[in-house]
Amino acid sequence: IKVLSVTSEIFPLIKTGGLADVTGSLPKALERLGIETLSLVPGYPSVMGQLRTAPPLLVFDELLGERASLLYAQIEGLSLLVLDCPALYARDGGPYVDAAGVDYADNWKRFAALSLAAAEVAGGALPGWIPDIVHPHDWQTALTSVYMRELEVPTPVVLTVHNLAFQGQFSASLLPALGLRPELYATDCLEYFRDISYLKGGLQTADAITTVSPTYAREILTPRFGMGMDGILNQRLDVLRGIVNGIDLEVWDPAADPYLPVNYDAASLRKKRQNRRHLLEAFGLDTDGAGPVFAAVSRLTWQKGMDMLAETADEIINSGGKLIVCGQGDREIERQLLETAARHPGQMTVHIGYAEAIAHLMHAGADAIIQPSRFEPCGLTQLYALRYGCVPVVSRTGGLSETIIDANDAAMSARVATGFQFHPVTTDGLRTALRRAVEAYADPKQWARLQNQGMKARFSWDRSAQQYAAVYASLMNRSKTSPS
Ligand code: ADP
Ligand code: GLC
Repeated sequence: IKVLSVTSEIFPLIKTGGLADVTGSLPKALERLGIETLSLVPGYPSVMGQLRTAPPLLVFDELLGERASLLYAQIEGLSLLVLDCPALYARDGGPYVDAAGVDYADNWKRFAALSLAAAEVAGGALPGWIPDIVHPHDWQTALTSVYMRELEVPTPVVLTVHNLAFQGQFSASLLPALGLRPELYATDCLEYFRDISYLKGGLQTADAITTVSPTYAREILTPRFGMGMDGILNQRLDVLRGIVNGIDLEVWDPAADPYLPVNYDAASLRKKRQNRRHLLEAFGLDTDGAGPVFAAVSRLTWQKGMDMLAETADEIINSGGKLIVCGQGDREIERQLLETAARHPGQMTVHIGYAEAIAHLMHAGADAIIQPSRFEPCGLTQLYALRYGCVPVVSRTGGLSETIIDANDAAMSARVATGFQFHPVTTDGLRTALRRAVEAYADPKQWARLQNQGMKARFSWDRSAQQYAAVYASLMNRSKTSPS
């Protein structure tokens, strides 16, 4: 099977969150099943900088009005098709926002062009390579199946929704510039509250829809989590399924992680103490005190419940714990956290920014990680934490509810507990979970059991990759047997 994955992020070349982790690691797992993936990504500076000069495979004289070309590259075990289009992608700043954090005004065009290029490749534009399956991810590439319909390309499309909150909503007046017929401004295609929504177009036209955990797949059928798309998702229930994310066991391996001062595994868990000391020192926190070191590595947003963390921070410190936060996002939440940290010198610190090295060190050095998400399609941080013997304190929602087993009496005595969950998702709920964690930490035997059970939990890609493979295979069989 040959798959064209279409994505706006891919680790290790360009990453703002879990999407990149998934699109960067799933192809490797699929390869072990004999499935070949080519990943189409925008030619951002961080991607172009890694390419060797080679003639393009294909030149578009005019892709939504811009000159562009497709380059092939093999980097870090990934086969890439890079859409080189300086007018759209050669910019300082992130993949979606400029250096000041403001969305690029032409994001509608930047990602539509990527989707259109994908549709052209699906239709056979590349000499000698035609995919059997096209696999776009999130709103940025959701127009792929809309363009494929327009170009009459029948290849099956699997759309994966990593986060329904981001929908690619733009003015309907852009339709002509997108090269799309006015008829597509219709409730069964792109029309969405008088605008157009790329994600809606994808949900309406993809052959299969997946999301990143079975729980989230159920939650998004309800108005509370459906973000306005629950009606459509209910209509498309027969093609919707949840497949939980795996993690890259090589990138996130405490026994070999190059970012850690000291490597360790379950058998040498004592060594985690040295990383803990290093972490506290690196952040200028006191190294004494008997309480746990809590960490949060997260986008600082409402989704992630980081405002609730700010509200409970005083209590963490007063109960003898320490708190380190690394992330960026909502300015008001950043301010709230920084202000709280200023009241607790030596006990709490906030690093505003995005740093892979710090994220790894935090998982290795902290005793517990806090993820009080209001909704969480899957969540990867808690999975990395488990592997690093860092105990997750999480809300019971989405992927968090099915990847962490709460340390209640039954789970503790069955020796399967891996963390602390709370529900309802409120500041008080979080408070109670944090208290439970502080108490458990005071009993070293109990804590070590939680760590060990977490480190034994298996979240490799193998099983989930098989589920994607099964979705691909069923669509291919269907398109072979269908009369059209
Ligand atoms: P989401 O994609 O919703 O942000 P996930 O838990 O799926 O949440 O993935 C987040 C990814 O981004 C993880 O790989 C995590 O380590 C990383 N990450 C989040 N914030 C930071 C940060 N400030 N610095 C480095 N990595 C971060
Ligand atoms: C999104 C979700 C997160 C998920 C990630 C990768 O960013 O918010 O829960 O883990 O995508 O699928």
